[in-house]
Amino acid sequence: MGKAIAIDGPSASGKSSVSKGVAAELGFIYVDSGALYRGVTWQAIRKGVDPKDAAAVLEAMHSADWAFFVKNGAAIFSVDGDVPVQELREKDVREAVARVAAIPEVRKFVVESLRSLENFGSLVMEGRDIGTVVFPDSPHKFYLDADPEERAMRRYRELVAAGEDEKAHEVMESLKKRDQIDATRKADPLVVAPGAQVIDSTSMTLEEVIQTVIDAVRRKA
Ligand code: CDP
Ligand code: CDP
Repeated sequence: MGKAIAIDGPSASGKSSVSKGVAAELGFIYVDSGALYRGVTWQAIRKGVDPKDAAAVLEAMHSADWAFFVKNGAAIFSVDGDVPVQELREKDVREAVARVAAIPEVRKFVVESLRSLENFGSLVMEGRDIGTVVFPDSPHKFYLDADPEERAMRRYRELVAAGEDEKAHEVMESLKKRDQIDATRKADPLVVAPGAQVIDSTSMTLEEVIQTVIDAVRRKA
């Protein structure tokens, strides 16, 4: 069995960038677990389902055909033959995903799918519950954090760079709302996993965070 490095934390704490960097340096497969929650949300929306209607979301999820594969060092999925990427970042998905991810049966489907990816090899998986629920026995658990203002600024800069017309204070509001839903939901809330190393990256560069993770993994290897 390969290794599974778990990287959890709130939105814009650096999980994707750090996980990709660690995966590239160690030759592990990068897994974005949030993409699958976004995929379930996107599938529901494109089927015309109201994301607030949990029963209809589950029907759309269960009746779809999901497949997983590895491409360019990352695990990705197709749903009914389509591979959504940019679509997962759209505003309607972004605003509904935390609610969809709070549905226990959605979480069960996603957690089982994520565990099955171990068949592909050693993983670096980022999310909210990787160290607490998906791979609780992994010796390699990290919780990335940064001040909310710093996280909102990081997200804002990304959106502006992508050409989106967003206001800084709206990004801050949206991030706080998602933080709140993620941290207070009944099903697998965002918490620091027992044994996880907490890294506050507020004033660290990306490279420093990546090296901190790699050094810790190598120490335990
Ligand atoms: O995946 P998550 O939402 O946690 O964050 P991300 O998308 O990886 O990072 C958000 C942005 O913050 C990216 O543009 C990073 O380059 C930047 N950043 C960082 O992640 N860590 C630092 N120490 C500094 C900047
Ligand atoms: O990149 P960002 O942190 O903004 O979001 P993401 O990682 O794409 O995750 C989107 C949403 O999926 C989060 O706000 C959570 O509601 C949910 N999620 C989760 O519940 N558990 C995970 N392991 C990953 C994501």
